Amino acid sequence: MKDGTLRYSVLADELAGLIDAGVLRPGDRLPSVRRLASEKRLSVSTVVRALHQLEDAGAVEARPQSGFFVKQRRPERAEPRTGAPPDQAVAVEVSQRLMRVLRANTQPGVLPLGAALPAPELLPIAAIRRLYSRVARRHPKLLAGASHTEMNEPALLRQVVKRSLAWGSALAGGEITVTHSCTEAMHLCLRAVTRPGDTVAVESPAYYLGLQLLESCGLKALEIPSAPGIGVSVEALELATRQEKVAACLLVPNASNPLGSIMPDANKARLAALMAERGVPVIEDDVYGDLHFDGPRPWPIKAFDRAGNVMLCSSFSKSISPALRVGFVAAGRYSGNVALQKTIISGATNPISQMVLAEYLESCASDRHLRRLRGRYANQVEQMMRAVARYFPAGTRMSRPQGAFVLWVELPDETDTMKLYGLALAEGVSFVPGELFSPSGMYRNCLRLNCGNPWSAAIEAGIQRLGQLAARAGSCL
Ligand SMILES: Cc1ncc(COP(=O)(O)O)c(C=O)c1O
Repeated sequence: MKDGTLRYSVLADELAGLIDAGVLRPGDRLPSVRRLASEKRLSVSTVVRALHQLEDAGAVEARPQSGFFVKQRRPERAEPRTGAPPDQAVAVEVSQRLMRVLRANTQPGVLPLGAALPAPELLPIAAIRRLYSRVARRHPKLLAGASHTEMNEPALLRQVVKRSLAWGSALAGGEITVTHSCTEAMHLCLRAVTRPGDTVAVESPAYYLGLQLLESCGLKALEIPSAPGIGVSVEALELATRQEKVAACLLVPNASNPLGSIMPDANKARLAALMAERGVPVIEDDVYGDLHFDGPRPWPIKAFDRAGNVMLCSSFSKSISPALRVGFVAAGRYSGNVALQKTIISGATNPISQMVLAEYLESCASDRHLRRLRGRYANQVEQMMRAVARYFPAGTRMSRPQGAFVLWVELPDETDTMKLYGLALAEGVSFVPGELFSPSGMYRNCLRLNCGNPWSAAIEAGIQRLGQLAARAGSCL
């Protein structure tokens, strides 16, 4: 081990010791980088590395223009119960209700706590804007046309493969199709491996746009129990795929939506092996994989797949900009069919946007941005947890997200969150009612809150009001 490596670890251990001993308390500001460097006689880069190690371990957080702070402890509340879904597949009918809820989220004057969208000020929009004009000037041919057969911009493909080196097993360029979004990637996979009337296994609770995709493809959903902090139950999936013919599973293993769970590696490995053995293709939605709060980047299920059976879908909507509309799928042995579906459905994704993204990912700004963004999301989720713990009625439970930026809340049993939604919207507060996360109508007393916005007095007031309405709704129903 090199000397420099030892020095940053020693400093990180020393600071961690002070935090453990309570000398440095939650919310305390750490001495500045310059001060630590001069007092410890270390280089600035060694100190920064030590602080990043502590940040990755979840002990401290960086706040823009303010320095590093000891992380607040999360408020303790029991985790939500996820119950036992029906063991039969059901038809999916969420679209109409979902569209009403998502549209309301964007009405002027409504607090955007519904759709899982980050606030624009957290994203590198100015850099992307500059890149659009630079790329259009430098590569005028990209404006001349788009192919229906050559759909991937090589520069972007290179960046995606390069980033995947940290995911346990690098993606192969040849298996990748660039798409308009993660949603399109999942749609292509479903079209490639299912037929109308087939059954697809999903988590319970499940991400609603995934359910909407099943609905639009005429597929049935089989809800598989999923626990906070663990994700989908591999045992239940094992049983379900033995009892019923399942054409595919559609899962969000890293920072799932809505629970925010990251599946343990051992479960991911078992799931990959089991589904390969049963011949059930896995569609993996890894859109939040880079947005974990602590520790190293979680590996996707695909890292454990030896059979080319996992199709990894992702995009840059949650980390760079939802407006770019660029995602990708690495579809293993289904890649030929997935690419064909892309040709049929939409042809190449906008070449200029692909190149803009490639150039942004190439710059060192992108890693810096991601590190900062993870800290911001973690902080916003914690603020939301604190406000829910403070303002929501007794008996409320909430998730402990391990990444991304949504919080799942379970209210007392008698609360109907669809009714609560109407009351809250009339007062300018949105959220997504729990039943939209279950095709069989579970989770009627649950709701999901978007924490993608910097904490503000308006959000605090909105959560306080929502808590009052929830207490009243619970008591009169
Ligand atoms: C789990 C999950 N997958 C995919 C998406 C959508 O990604 P995209 O905008 O790239 O389609 C979302 C957005 O909320 C999401 O939460």
